[in-house]
Amino acid sequence: MSKLFKNYKRADIEFVKAEGNYLFDQEGKKYLDFSTGIGVTNLGFHPQVSAALEKQASKIWHTPNLYQNSLQEEVAGKLIGQMDYLAFFANSGAEANEAAIKIARKATGKQEIISFVNSFHGRTFGSMSATGQDKIKEGFGQGVPHFSYAIFNDLDSVKHLVTEDTAAVMLELVQGESGVQPADPNFVTDLAAYCKEQGLLLMVDEVQTGMGRTGKLFAFQHYGIQPDIFTLAKGLGNGVPVGAMLAKSELGAAFSYGSHGSTFGGNKLAMAASSAVLDIMTEDFLADALEKGQYLQTKLAEALAGNPHVSQVRGLGLMIGIETDLNLAQLVQAARDKGLVVLTAGANVIRLLPPLTLSQEEIDTGLAILSDLFE
Ligand SMILES: Cc1ncc(COP(=O)(O)O)c(C=O)c1O
Repeated sequence: MSKLFKNYKRADIEFVKAEGNYLFDQEGKKYLDFSTGIGVTNLGFHPQVSAALEKQASKIWHTPNLYQNSLQEEVAGKLIGQMDYLAFFANSGAEANEAAIKIARKATGKQEIISFVNSFHGRTFGSMSATGQDKIKEGFGQGVPHFSYAIFNDLDSVKHLVTEDTAAVMLELVQGESGVQPADPNFVTDLAAYCKEQGLLLMVDEVQTGMGRTGKLFAFQHYGIQPDIFTLAKGLGNGVPVGAMLAKSELGAAFSYGSHGSTFGGNKLAMAASSAVLDIMTEDFLADALEKGQYLQTKLAEALAGNPHVSQVRGLGLMIGIETDLNLAQLVQAARDKGLVVLTAGANVIRLLPPLTLSQEEIDTGLAILSDLFE
């Protein structure tokens, strides 16, 4: 009998090996991976990332944050480029969001944070309290106070919640977990302008949308905005646990000596992997990923047009949702039977988060299986 908590519903299958964009189960069956974990191994099982990990493991894999860490500087430099941010490294998306919530409160001296209905920001108390879904919080009692939830893509609903104590607005640019819902571009630019005018910090949770997932390094680049704070995790280490909170340099004083920290955050193995990931994600690479995403989404929409069980195909880059009234668990199982691994999101969406390294042939294989599946 399992000695593990039953907090996950695990399929009766174990992946024991991976090569490029393929997974192999314990029986040796091969699957094309359109899930990348849950949007984590964005580059597939990439030899350049393994080589960077092996090289770092043979030198030193941990030092505490009591010492200089040139790898953290290197990764921060590659993430920030010509922009004006400072970085804090954590170990997960929830932790990165905790850091974001803390710096927003400390920098403004205010407490309230407005997030959105159907958002997902993590499972720790702060990030869970930021999450706009009751089912995530059930049974855990009183959460962290001073969070409220506006309606996604509705600026008026944000304005109604703003008080003198509002520090920040926290947003996913594509709501991932609840059903792959992209934010409306006008809403995002108007919200950014409103936050600036009112002196509210705009925090973008890029845990799922970041690291090339939407065809840009950060999804906010699609929307022509620069948030005051943004968070990363998932694809940053391509599977090695890591998170990051980046905030405009002018907020730096709020995270002064002793204000925040993490034993493992910015660990050398995680940083070596992240640095290798960022070397691969050049502008050309990302432009290609964006094109692949558009191709996959367009072809899927064409293939599923007229299917009475599919109401919409939507997404951004290689973050795609197929809204359907069919049973999601059965669809996921049927896809696996045909050698394709897919995810679900919310109550009625099949979610595709394939690797950005997909070949044309792999895209077409996935498309054929998916078209077949919905027939
Ligand atoms: C948008 C978003 N934020 C935060 C998280 C939490 O990340 P983690 O599970 O690494 O704590 C997730 C995870 O799915 C996410 O999609």
